[in-house]
Formats: sequence, structure tokens, C-alpha cells
Amino acid sequence: MPQLEFSHEPVLLSEAIDALDIKPDGIYADCTAGGGGHSFEIVKRLSSGHLFCIDQDEEAIEAVKKRLGGFEDRYTVIRSNFSEAEKIFKDIMLDGALMDIGVSSHQIDDPSRGFSYMQDAPLDMRMDSDNPFTAADIVNGYDETRLADILKRWGEEKYARRIAAAIVKQRQIQPIAGTLELVGIIESAVPGNYRSLGGHPAKRSFQALRIEVNHEIEILTPTIGALVDRLSVGGRIAIITFHSLEDREVKQAFAELSKGCVCPSDFPVCVCGRKPKVKVFKPVVPGETELKNNPRSHSARLRYAEKLSGPYEKAD
Ligand SMILES: C[S@@+](CC[C@H](N)C(=O)[O-])C[C@H]1O[C@@H](n2cnc3c(N)ncnc32)[C@H](O)[C@@H]1O
Repeated sequence: MPQLEFSHEPVLLSEAIDALDIKPDGIYADCTAGGGGHSFEIVKRLSSGHLFCIDQDEEAIEAVKKRLGGFEDRYTVIRSNFSEAEKIFKDIMLDGALMDIGVSSHQIDDPSRGFSYMQDAPLDMRMDSDNPFTAADIVNGYDETRLADILKRWGEEKYARRIAAAIVKQRQIQPIAGTLELVGIIESAVPGNYRSLGGHPAKRSFQALRIEVNHEIEILTPTIGALVDRLSVGGRIAIITFHSLEDREVKQAFAELSKGCVCPSDFPVCVCGRKPKVKVFKPVVPGETELKNNPRSHSARLRYAEKLSGPYEKAD
């Protein structure tokens, strides 16, 4: 099958670039380089600075190289999960880090990847095709309770138990192989008026499977912590999220990193020595024009923070 042209409209582009407050000689990390939309805006503002473009998807890496053509001396691509940030930047201090979390439009639109509930494909949903664990392993392998748990936790799916029971019943006949077969099973398990209440009946289940396949939520807080540790004083971290689960995780991680002394209030002096690592700014949402022009931006939110000066001793 011919390769799809990589297409992804960056979300909150100028807002993210403003939040990063780019210095021409700074060192930056775009941890979710995707189609290179944000990377391009960063790299073109650099003179002696450098940009590290990370993505776990091979096709995204190729797309970034194409998009950043002409700036070869100012960027390096790294195919990796951003959860490796601590190792990747072990000897590098950053002036800014960006994460534009989730899947790209390219990944959703590519029928072979299995992210979409609108097109038939194998149950895959891996962002990193070297990862052996796919959505089929969950759908055909998890027991009913575990299946219901992930549909509830990562999809906030009200009918998680009914859907899990329908999946288990169906797979006893033969393994569930494709996305549209799964959509049919989900549709048969939820009330007929589901669409009028909350969109496509498979939307939440597909979100849950995608998050479980790619461990999307549990890697966020440790990665944010690792990136903040590698930021120079005054450096910025900017994170774009697309649903409440991601946003909650980022909000809580920032709140924790911005917390100072945790001594009981009746202690006369601080003995914990804990200092805030970051100052957190007000979140930003897309403006009217972006909302009108890019439907994908509807649920987007940008949170950003700035590294404060240390030391950040933390009492055990
Ligand atoms: C929303 S897109 C980014 C789009 C990009 N900002 C642009 O303007 O083209 C998210 C990208 O992040 C990548 N990604 C998601 N989670 C990742 C992770 N844990 N590690 C590395 N890449 C990840 C996906 O493969 C995808 O290409």
C-alpha cells in the first residue's frame, strides 16, 4: 500500500512557542515531534541553539526530517519513547521542552494503524511499531474484570462492564481481529441511544485501548519530573493535552513540582528544606479562529511552567 502523505495540523502552535520563550542560542526538546509542526517553529528561531526532536513513531521521524529540511545543523532526531528523557538528556541541560501529547492525525488517518473506529484495520494502535504489545493482546487476552477496568479508567466508559462482557462472549467463538468487528461488538453492548448521549459508541473504548497499549498516562508524571530536572533555571516546559485524564495528570505533576515547604504548620521553622522547582503559569486554550479551523483543537489545553533556581533539597 502506498505511504500516506504525513498530515497533521499543529494545535496551539503560536501559544506553545510563546510559552517556551525561545532563545536563539538555547537547547530545546520537542518530545512529540510528530509531523514537525512545532519543531519547525522552534528550529527557525534558533541561531547557535539546538533542537532535539523525539518521537517513538518511525513515520513521524521521517516526516520531521522532511519538514526540517535545510536546518540540518540545528536539530537531531531521536527515535525513542519520551519516557527515556532522563537517559537521553543525562549530560544535556535544556532551555525548553515541549510535549504535544497523544496521537497525530496521520496516525489516526492511516487505516493500517488501527487507531480509528471509522475504518477497518487490524487491532494494533501502537505508536511504536517495535513494541510487541497491541490492542489485539488486550481485547483477546485480558480477563473480563481487567478489560472492564481499563475501559472505565482510560475511557471513562459508563458501559465498561457490558462492553467487556460482550467482548469476552464474542472472543469465545473466535479471536476478535479487526477494528470494525470490535465496533460492532461495542455497539451491540451499549444502549441504542448512546450516540445521542455521548458521541460514537466506540470512541471511549478506543481511547482506553490506545492509552493502555502505549502506557500513555503512567509515563507522564515521571517524564515531566525528569524533564524539569534537566531544565536550566528560567527554562520552560510546555505540555499540550487533549483530554481530561492527560490534563489532570499534568496539572497534578506541576502542582507537586511547584510545592514548597511541606512541614506541619505548627513547626516554628522549616526542617524539610523543600523548595518549589517550578513556577506554573495559567493554562491556555485555543482561540476562536483555531477552534473554527481545526476541530482537533476543541479539547486542547496548554499548561506550562518555568524552572526556578535551586537547591531543591527534599526531606525524606
Ligand atoms: C499530537 S502528535 C505531535 C504533533 C506535532 N507537535 C506536530 O506539530 O506535528 C503526537 C506525536 O507524539 C508521539 N508520541 C506520543 N507519545 C509519545 C511517547 N511516549 N514518546 C515518544 N513519542 C510519543 C506520537 O507518535 C505522535 O507522533
